[in-house]
Amino acid sequence: MTEPGLILRAGRMSDVPAIHALLREQAAAGNLLPRTQENLVRHVRDFVVAEQDATLAGVGALEIMGPDLGEVRSLAVVPMFQRRGMGEQVTQALVRQARELGLKRLMALTYVPGFFARLGFEVVDKDSLPEKVWQVCVKCYKFNRCDEIAVMLRLDEVPGTAAASG
Ligand SMILES: CC(C)(COP(=O)(O)OP(=O)(O)OC[C@H]1O[C@@H](n2cnc3c(N)ncnc32)[C@H](O)[C@@H]1OP(=O)(O)O)[C@@H](O)C(=O)NCCC(=O)NCCS
Repeated sequence: MTEPGLILRAGRMSDVPAIHALLREQAAAGNLLPRTQENLVRHVRDFVVAEQDATLAGVGALEIMGPDLGEVRSLAVVPMFQRRGMGEQVTQALVRQARELGLKRLMALTYVPGFFARLGFEVVDKDSLPEKVWQVCVKCYKFNRCDEIAVMLRLDEVPGTAAASG
């Protein structure tokens, strides 16, 4: 379902203050990790933005963790725009980008595994994510008490064949 007036587009430098404010608000609510404006400036190319009637309504980023592995990061929808399908559309845009890049797996660390399950992601053991653990988690303030759930989407399987092959 697409809301009338909804545009999905690449992140721009002029989005950084609004992305920063949205992530700060969601981080304060304990839903995701905060990011500095400086970090967002350096990574703004990772972002897909959902714009509703010229207002930034949702964001998500595809970060490359290794030659085969990408991560959905900083996925957030402004509360007044939630449950209208925007989070799903942003995530699907990130999945398309990951496929186009030739990545084989796309992961996320999340408190809402049910949201990702609808899109085909499966819960996996965090220990199966060595790249993530070594590159990013060691720098995270939650490293020793991470309570997020790891989910993974395999991009190298044709949809619908995994269950059929047992
Ligand atoms: C998670 C989030 C991005 C979802 O965005 P959204 O635009 O509200 O979600 P959608 O409307 O695309 O949801 C599609 C479906 O996913 C499921 N879903 C959505 N939000 C959910 C939630 N918080 N918990 C469980 N399932 C959820 C629902 O089944 C929903 O369909 P329905 O509304 O018909 O029941 C948004 O709630 C958000 O910004 N949350 C706070 C930040 C956060 O937790 N980010 C995830 C970090 S990995």
